[in-house]
Amino acid sequence: MGRWEEDHGAASAEGAVARIIVASQASIRQSVYQEMEKIRASAVKHNEPAGIATALLHQSGWFVQWKEGPAPALQDIMARVAGDSRHFDLRIVHRSRGPRLLSGPWSMAIVQCSETPAQMEQRIRRLKQQVDEGLQFSPAATWRRLSTPMIHAGAMRQHDPDAFQRVLVCAAAGMGSFELVRWLGECNKVEVVHRRFAGATERDVGTDYVDFEQDERVWRVIAMARHGLHLPLTRAFIPDYSHVVLLLSIDAERNAQLVERVLRAYEFVEHPPALIGVASRDDMHAVPAAMARRHRLPYLAAVADSRLPQETWAEVQPLLMHWQQAANSSLMSGAGRTRFAQ
Ligand SMILES: Cc1cc2nc3c(=O)[nH]c(=O)nc-3n(C[C@H](O)[C@H](O)[C@H](O)COP(=O)(O)O)c2cc1C
Repeated sequence: MGRWEEDHGAASAEGAVARIIVASQASIRQSVYQEMEKIRASAVKHNEPAGIATALLHQSGWFVQWKEGPAPALQDIMARVAGDSRHFDLRIVHRSRGPRLLSGPWSMAIVQCSETPAQMEQRIRRLKQQVDEGLQFSPAATWRRLSTPMIHAGAMRQHDPDAFQRVLVCAAAGMGSFELVRWLGECNKVEVVHRRFAGATERDVGTDYVDFEQDERVWRVIAMARHGLHLPLTRAFIPDYSHVVLLLSIDAERNAQLVERVLRAYEFVEHPPALIGVASRDDMHAVPAAMARRHRLPYLAAVADSRLPQETWAEVQPLLMHWQQAANSSLMSGAGRTRFAQ
């Protein structure tokens, strides 16, 4: 267990913390990536000793920062950040107290998309209006609404547009998860969204997703690089998934490593998503299933060649159908604590 986990992890004595999400217009001249790296260098220096965790997003000319920590330290850092000339027009879109959801002092995401700053502003304005009218969104749902809004027509017809099924896919080797998402995009004639995430020290990793409707259900299938599973921003969204699909390889060691990574990312999540393993032979499920069982996790076995998207989806989709809609609603339940260990 790292120092951060010891001091601030769900097993530590730390109680509820202050959580805030602020959107602001970016005014940076250099490359976004370079500027984010500079901000990261300051933040890792100041945030860790103060117990502050930040997730910073740059998208369509806007920053979105999600910060958590002891209220006085958070106030101090926000006072300094507010005076930073690299942004202006700060708007608070979320404020709550609750358990930490970000499991480390820093993560960042850069999203390149065709949305204009004005369109992004409209979404920020709409969200703020809903919050002002009394709707309470969890920090993760707030972030999702700003960064990766569900705009599929099928979701708009639902009572709660955020109650769509979210599934994470990760491959033990190769790029199978990204190929599955690309194939789902092609089949359903919808665009694949690309994003990049990074943590406090490591290089950035890719993650792609696609939204579509199938069997009267709206789906978001997200491919995540296995090296990105431990990032605080990835971990904060784990409770949002109905399932994590593991595309297993013929290399048993790599399969065990992938399950290890997922189990580490699941640490302290009270109701972690069920696992679905995809392997071409039944016997290849034995080790991953045993690892899942030791952690009392449901493990569903799909027999398919995980390198073939069509065959994989045909076997996995029926397993994904067993899912309770209520579990994925975006609105905060109670203090937002119900889904995390304390
Ligand atoms: C959107 C945004 C978010 C920031 N978040 C943080 C942060 O979480 N922690 C931090 O120390 N600095 C953050 N900064 C940078 C601070 O504004 C400031 O430049 C920095 O803390 C100065 O520290 P230094 O002089 O030691 O580098 C952020 C800046 C921007 C524009």
